[in-house]
Amino acid sequence: MSFIGFDGASKLEALIAGKTIPEQFTLLCENFGEFVVFSSSLGLEDQVITQSIAVSGADIKIFTLDTGRLFQETYDLIDRTTATYKVDMQVYFPNNFAVETFMTEKGANSFYESIENRKECCHIRKVEPLSRALKNAKVWITGLRKEQSTNRETMKLVEWDAARELYKFSPLINWTAEEIESYINENDIPYNPLHNKGFASIGCAPCTRAVAADEDARAGRWWWENSQKECGLHK
Ligand code: ADX
Ligand code: SF4
Repeated sequence: MSFIGFDGASKLEALIAGKTIPEQFTLLCENFGEFVVFSSSLGLEDQVITQSIAVSGADIKIFTLDTGRLFQETYDLIDRTTATYKVDMQVYFPNNFAVETFMTEKGANSFYESIENRKECCHIRKVEPLSRALKNAKVWITGLRKEQSTNRETMKLVEWDAARELYKFSPLINWTAEEIESYINENDIPYNPLHNKGFASIGCAPCTRAVAADEDARAGRWWWENSQKECGLHK
C-alpha cells in the first residue's frame, strides 16, 4: 500500500484503527521501517508513549530536544526513563554558534523582553534541532492532545505534514488529562515530580511556572505573554 502524500493519512488511520497503541507502533514499523521516530519532552503524554514503545518492542528512535534550559528534574527523568524501559534516548542540542550569538547579542534571558526574542530563542533551541532530528523520518510520533489548547483542538490522529513531508502521528490526541493520569498511575510510569508541585505542562525552566487549580494547564508556559503559547514545533 502506498502511504505517500496527503491522502495517505486516511489510509494510515484505517491501517491502525481498532489496534492498541503498542500494536499501532508495530504496524508503523512494519510499513515504514526505521523511519518512525518519536519526540519526547518527558511530559506525561510522552511518558505514556515511551512505555508503549517499550511494551511493543518496536524499533522506534526516541529523541529529546535538550534546549540547555531544562529543569534538573527533567534531566533526572531522562535517566530514570531510559533505565526503567531499557531504551535509548537520542539527545539533540542547539547549534552552539547560534546560541552563543543570541546570548551575546541579546542576553541570556532576553526572551522575557519581547515575543520576537522569545520566538528566536525557541527557534534556535527547539525548532532547528527538531528539523535535524526529523531528517529522513517518515512518521513523527508526538504526545499532542486536542484538550491541551484551543490551538490543538483541530489536530488529528494522523496528519500529513506537507512542510516536513512526513506523517505526524499523535496516538493520544483524544485522551483526556484524567485518562493520562490514570494510565500513568496504573502502569507505575516514572514522571516529573514537578507535576506534583502544580507544574501542569513543563517546558524550559525560565519559561514555565506552576499553575493554580483554576488555571488552564498551559497558563504556566510563557506566562508573561499574551500569545498563542506555542514555540513553533507544532504549527
Ligand atoms: S510545546 O510546543 O508547547 O513545547 P508541548 O510541551 O505541549 O509542546 O509538547 C507537545 C509535544 O511536542 C510533545 O509530546 C513532544 O512530542 C513534542 N515536544 C515538545 N517539546 C519537546 C522537546 N523538548 N523534545 C522533544 N519533543 C518535544
Ligand atoms: Fe528559550 Fe524559553 Fe523557548 Fe526554552 S521555552 S527555547 S528558554 S524561549
